[in-house]
Amino acid sequence: MSHPGRFHPDSPLLDHCPPTLPRDAYRDPDWHAAEVEHVWKTSWVYVGRRAELPAGTIRPVELVGQRLILVHDEAGALRAFHNTCRHRGAELCAAEGPIHGRRITCPYHQWTYDTQGRLISTAFGTPTGDFRKEEHGLFPVHLHEWRGFLFVCLSDTPPDFTQAPIPGLPTLDNWPLEGLARGHRRQWDMACNWKIFWENYNECLHCPGVHPNLSQRVPVFARGINAPNEAAEWSPDGPQLPVLSEGASTWTVSGRPCGPEFPDLTEAERAAGASFLTFYPTCYITAHVDFLRVGTLTPMGPERTLLTIDWLFPPETLAAPGFDLADAVDFSAQVVDEDAMACEMNQRGLASERYTAGTLMPQEFEIAQFHAWLRARLPAEMKDAS
Ligand code: FES
Ligand SMILES: [Fe+2]
Repeated sequence: MSHPGRFHPDSPLLDHCPPTLPRDAYRDPDWHAAEVEHVWKTSWVYVGRRAELPAGTIRPVELVGQRLILVHDEAGALRAFHNTCRHRGAELCAAEGPIHGRRITCPYHQWTYDTQGRLISTAFGTPTGDFRKEEHGLFPVHLHEWRGFLFVCLSDTPPDFTQAPIPGLPTLDNWPLEGLARGHRRQWDMACNWKIFWENYNECLHCPGVHPNLSQRVPVFARGINAPNEAAEWSPDGPQLPVLSEGASTWTVSGRPCGPEFPDLTEAERAAGASFLTFYPTCYITAHVDFLRVGTLTPMGPERTLLTIDWLFPPETLAAPGFDLADAVDFSAQVVDEDAMACEMNQRGLASERYTAGTLMPQEFEIAQFHAWLRARLPAEMKDAS
């Protein structure tokens, strides 16, 4: 990509201004239904952490209209199944609870399955010789564990998990993800399409106007860019802009860490203040020097998205006397409040019939990457329309 005269040739900025997705992509129920089929049902979707599903526990989860169960057996194996009994289809599990006697028992007529999903007993039903138990096991769902994070895929042929994160982004290898504990959860029920959230997440042109506090803490954001290498004067060999404001080392209200810093981070990871890892379409992790946030998107309809944010800490931090949860939570919760307002404002504006599609600026190169990721999954007729 070249940027004649304006940017260093290694700058990630776009060298042209491509069109956005069309208006229908954010509003049309048929478009949304197609995305559920071709994007959400074929992708790995985040459903929770191993640390929060104790061994010997079963939990119902819902995923784009499909009810599933997560099963963590006494031996430590994790599995997922459709939440439907093979007898006459009753829901197997309505609420999280212990697995009794290592068996999953349907509450309707007591058919019983083992934790591998095999049918063990038809209870009071007495099948004739033509009934073969081995043909009536639970319907399995693919489950993948990545560093204590659990993902499921509804497709019979799930993609390779390693292809899910966008290449080139940080991998968070130096953060002890497996051992962290949840200190707080907050949810935002947003009146916007799920893609509006990702688009807003992927650019900082809105930062100076929408996030005044954050832009003070992260002066790079005050210039409408996500990282120093997006600045017009940037070159890989030149002096690098500081990311965080003087004296601050993290995204807390005070700017100070809320507990001990993670010991294995590199100097660059400390200086960045935040490292982002994205798993389209389902979740992202924002990692700071002292804690992490996990944001999960649940599409509830073409114009409604539930955002769940978990704040994760080392257990020692949560247990330390004087630990101030508000210092860690309030700063980023304000940022999310501001983003949610921006997303809803974007969605409301898309109701205008005069708007058919917009235009990306060069700084919105990560939105262009997101659109390319999405288009690669859409059927041909929708690709052409977009
Ligand atoms: S529907 Fe489950 S045992 Fe009958
Ligand atoms: Fe934002």
